[in-house]
Amino acid sequence: MTLPAFEILHNDNPWPDTEGVTAWDFTLGGGGRHLIDAIITQDKPRYMLEIGCFLGASAKRWLSLDPNLKLIGVDSWSNWLVAQCRKYVGRPGLTRAYPDIKVQQRFAADVERQGPFPTAMANLRGFEDRFVPVRGTSPDCLPTIKATGFTPDLIYIDAGKKADDLNVCHQLWPNACITGDDWHWNRTKGYPMRKIVTNFAEQYGFHVTAEHATWVLNRN
Ligand SMILES: C[S@@+](CC[C@H](N)C(=O)[O-])C[C@H]1O[C@@H](n2cnc3c(N)ncnc32)[C@H](O)[C@@H]1O
Repeated sequence: MTLPAFEILHNDNPWPDTEGVTAWDFTLGGGGRHLIDAIITQDKPRYMLEIGCFLGASAKRWLSLDPNLKLIGVDSWSNWLVAQCRKYVGRPGLTRAYPDIKVQQRFAADVERQGPFPTAMANLRGFEDRFVPVRGTSPDCLPTIKATGFTPDLIYIDAGKKADDLNVCHQLWPNACITGDDWHWNRTKGYPMRKIVTNFAEQYGFHVTAEHATWVLNRN
């Protein structure tokens, strides 16, 4: 059921031409992703859904761990990300990844000139058969993915830090292992994602394993 669904999604969501496009394997991930690595290498999920792919660094990480893993990636890849990347220049995340200010400026300029979507897909080159980019906004686009028959074993949410993504994922795919990022974000705002995930766990009978930014919902 899920393989034909994956193929439908693959046909309906073509990759852009990435010839000559420079890849930037930059992630904003805040740590603890080894928890997801362990699920991929030990439980061997066949189908994964990632909500919030940005430049494809986390997607590339998951796909590199298991040659049989297939991933649907949802992101709007909107031009709003261009301004976002400009803002990173000179700031800690980008400075750590690319200490040279000229490299940081080239990063922002490439994302602007090439566009966020082709830049992300350039980073995922080599995974054309196993990564499907669904350009859309979550959770609105999730029922359309479900309608193809696609059933993810594993879901990773790294998008808008809103309860909707989690609730809709659980409604659509109650047997999926749901995980995500932003556990540590943002102390001054009272860790909103942490609250969403803990409330969800209490309501639906899960317990949470979390480390740094990463959280995993486990059934009680
Ligand atoms: C923190 S970044 C994701 C980082 C990525 N997972 C990585 O580690 O490389 C958040 C991404 O979520 C996307 N996003 C935010 N809200 C979204 C929504 N409602 N639907 C789809 N994508 C969304 C943004 O476009 C952005 O690319």
